Formats: sequence, structure tokens, C-alpha cells
Amino acid sequence: QNRTEEYTHTRASGQLNISRSTFSVEPSVKESTALIYRCHGEPSQVVTLETLKLPPLRSTSVLVKMLAAPINPSDINMIQGTYAILPNLPAVGGNEGVGQVIEVGIEVKTIKVGDWVIPRDAGLGMWQTAVVLSADDLVTVPSDIPVLSAATLGVNPCTALRMLSDFEDLKPGDTVIQNAANSAVGQAVIQIAAAKGVQTVNVVRDRPNLQKLTDGLKAMGATCVITEETLRRPEMKEIFKSYPRPKLALNGVGGKSATELLRHLQ
Ligand SMILES: NC(=O)c1ccc[n+]([C@@H]2O[C@H](COP(=O)([O-])OP(=O)(O)OC[C@H]3O[C@@H](n4cnc5c(N)ncnc54)[C@H](OP(=O)(O)O)[C@@H]3O)[C@@H](O)[C@H]2O)c1
Repeated sequence: QNRTEEYTHTRASGQLNISRSTFSVEPSVKESTALIYRCHGEPSQVVTLETLKLPPLRSTSVLVKMLAAPINPSDINMIQGTYAILPNLPAVGGNEGVGQVIEVGIEVKTIKVGDWVIPRDAGLGMWQTAVVLSADDLVTVPSDIPVLSAATLGVNPCTALRMLSDFEDLKPGDTVIQNAANSAVGQAVIQIAAAKGVQTVNVVRDRPNLQKLTDGLKAMGATCVITEETLRRPEMKEIFKSYPRPKLALNGVGGKSATELLRHLQ
């Protein structure tokens, strides 16, 4: 499928709208290639690559050339229609990404051409080659960090930071326990905790290459890596002879795995 439309993004009550718009100044890039869905369902069935006509630049808007945009599980759930926040359709997929500013509206003071920017919130449609957004919807990030780090800065590391900051006053030497420790969020938890001097007990599912995974997580700063099976064994008592019992448990799995984490809290 190959459709061409004039569109802009607006956000209201957490929803994404794609609607027709007219503005005054012509942007230098006129089109965007975008991954769009017009109904909810399995991504392979409902997502199509289409050419969109970009709207002209408004005085408060910014034209961004996208550099990279990841696929998070929540992006898939949004397409499936199973996520808590759902866009109005049609929608461009992708909640996260980094782009370089190639043009700014005359009233934009906070962002300049050449800046790297990431979306301030979800639902802005990052799976496309170029996008015109309000300057207020964007945050500048350093352009001397790896592009993949910049593209994935807004969701998982921020989630990890908030979980480590909002529930307990963690001090160096304290312990945090988490399951799904090899997830993107889990890896951010490990690195942020290590930077704060907080120890992490990291629960993962068993696998043939467990040692390789353990070595990788320890290289990031994990204090200890154990399997879900170990979590249920008496040897956990030995582990907590070396570190204090955890002040905080972080669950990304649910069910038994979550219950087992709670049993080890202080
Ligand atoms: N702001 C937010 O609220 C926010 C933002 C981002 C993520 N999250 C949540 O954070 C968690 C991790 O997200 P992510 O994007 O970082 O995940 P991810 O990188 O896709 O990793 C998924 C993780 O879940 C584990 N897993 C999957 N099924 C499992 C099962 N049946 N039993 C045990 N472990 C299982 C996987 O382990 P294997 O390697 O063994 O498959 C892997 O560690 C999710 O719960 C997600 O909803 C919340």
C-alpha cells in the first residue's frame, strides 16, 4: 500500500490524532515514510509502510529527521489494541526515538537546528523518517552519546530511575531485588543502582547460556544473578548473609515470581 496524505499530530487526553492541517511556512523536507496502522490487530497484519505529506512548519513547530526509533513491547500492545493508552486511528507507530532538528519555526527559542531531540511523551508516532511536532512536545538530548542510547533514553532508563527513586530512600550499601533482570528496564536498574552504590539481586529465567548472561549483567554492575528456581531455595539465606535483605522489590513478571520476591524483603 502506498498512500499520500497531509497530516499533523495533536495529543488530547493521551490520544494521538492524525488530521488534516494547513500552516504557513514550507518545510525543506516534504514527505515522511511512516509505519502506519489503520485498525488494531497483529502488527504483521495491520502495519503498512506509507508515504505521508508533511505539513508546512508552524511558527512554534520543529521539523525533525528521525535517526533511530526502537520497538518496545508497549508499541506492539498499542497496535494490538491491548495497551491502556490507545491512539485515534490511523496512527503512526512508535512511542520513542531520537531525531535531529532540520528546521525550526520562527517563535521556537528552546530548540535549534542540529539539536538531537526525543519526544516528551508517548503517542507521537516515532516510526517515520521525518516528523513535524510542536517544540513543546520535544526535549533536547546531548548529541555526543550513542544514537541507540539516545533513541532509548525516554522509556526504560526513566522507568528504572523512577522505580529506584520514588518508593524507598535507597542509600549506598542497600539492596534491591528484581525479576526480569535481563529486560531493558532491568538492565537500566542494574546500571543506575550500581552508580548509586546500591546492590542488586537479579532474578532471571534459567537458560543454556546462563553463565554468559550472568557475566554480562555483572559487567553492567549486577551484584548477584540468580535463577527463578534459586529464588525459591533455602540457599537464599546464604545470599543474604553477604548483603542486607532488600529494601525494594521490582516486579516485571507477576504471579509466583512476584510473590517470591516479596518474601525476601526486609
Ligand atoms: N513506564 C512503565 O510503566 C514501563 C516502561 C517500560 C517497561 N515497563 C515494564 O517493565 C517490564 C520490562 O519491560 P522491558 O520492555 O524492559 O522488557 P523486555 O526488554 O522485552 O524483556 C522482557 C523480560 O521479561 C522476561 N519474561 C518474559 N516472560 C516471562 C515469564 N513468563 N516469566 C519470567 N520472565 C519473563 C524476559 O525474560 P527471558 O529473557 O527469560 O525471556 C525478559 O527479561 C515489563 O513488565 C514492562 O511492562 C513499564
